[in-house]
Amino acid sequence: MKRIDGKKIAEEIKTAVKEKVEKNFKNQGKSVPKLACIIVEGNKASEVYVASKEKACAFCGMESLIVRLAEDSTEEKLFAEIDKLNNDKTVSGILLQLPLPAQLDADRATNRISPQKDVDCLTYENLGKLFSSKHKIAPCTATGIIKMLKHEHIEISGKRAVVIGRSLLVGKSVANLLEQENATVTICHSRTKDMQKITKKADILIVAIGKANYITADYVKKGAVVIDVGINRTEAGLVGDVNFEDVAPKCSYISPVPGGVGPLTVACLMENTLTCAENQEK
Ligand SMILES: NC(=O)c1ccc[n+]([C@@H]2O[C@H](COP(=O)([O-])OP(=O)(O)OC[C@H]3O[C@@H](n4cnc5c(N)ncnc54)[C@H](OP(=O)(O)O)[C@@H]3O)[C@@H](O)[C@H]2O)c1
Repeated sequence: MKRIDGKKIAEEIKTAVKEKVEKNFKNQGKSVPKLACIIVEGNKASEVYVASKEKACAFCGMESLIVRLAEDSTEEKLFAEIDKLNNDKTVSGILLQLPLPAQLDADRATNRISPQKDVDCLTYENLGKLFSSKHKIAPCTATGIIKMLKHEHIEISGKRAVVIGRSLLVGKSVANLLEQENATVTICHSRTKDMQKITKKADILIVAIGKANYITADYVKKGAVVIDVGINRTEAGLVGDVNFEDVAPKCSYISPVPGGVGPLTVACLMENTLTCAENQEK
């Protein structure tokens, strides 16, 4: 069994971004790419995520701008901030940190972002391009998972992949990218019957459900590749959706939590910000 080192792969991606920023922006006398993160206050985990994005921007030599809104902000207020960033020529990418408080509709707000600056590829326009294989960027977490598999030289083409979870942010997006890499993909969700029967056939099992330690060895085929996307805060600390100790001995490769998909999501956000900046130059 190999434990995949997501942190190390993420460092490699960020270093490549940093070099491109230096070569194609700084050394050319151009202003560096800038990522704007909007955070509506009230979610502790979001604060941590935004701080790590800010840190990654600094590492890559890119600018970051954090826009903070009060927890009770109206949609009008949020839209006004998004519009301001859409019209700001110094901003290359906009990320709206989810989840939002109940009075705000995440779908409507995400789609207010200009598709050219939509760094997580979640507007309907960009998802349409993704699902028609016409995309220049894809959602960060899904992109990170594919990069992780490729980094480890894990064959995807012709393999049977099972994705547990069907959110646009993770499940549907990664299933689509796997299919574009010629895997045969099955998506499971909370209404799936006899899920173990399906997951036990997977050569590659991607788990994105948001339930601590839910997937045990009984769900996994011997020799499978298991990628754990889940981030769950428990009394014992941060854990994934996969019961690592139980599942790891059965796998050929497994990604841990923390130190697996999480760092790759941030690294791919940096790459997407750079791509958005390059596209806006054209
Ligand atoms: N590592 C990273 O960078 C990263 C990035 C994003 C998200 N995450 C984490 O990944 C997890 C999933 O995120 P998300 O945004 O996709 O969550 P989500 O929108 O809540 O979606 C969860 C999905 O899991 C399915 N599900 C829930 N319980 C299930 C069960 N017992 N059996 C089978 N399917 C089940 C749900 O099915 P239904 O559709 O039927 O409800 C849903 O499709 C969370 O822990 C989140 O924190 C990590």
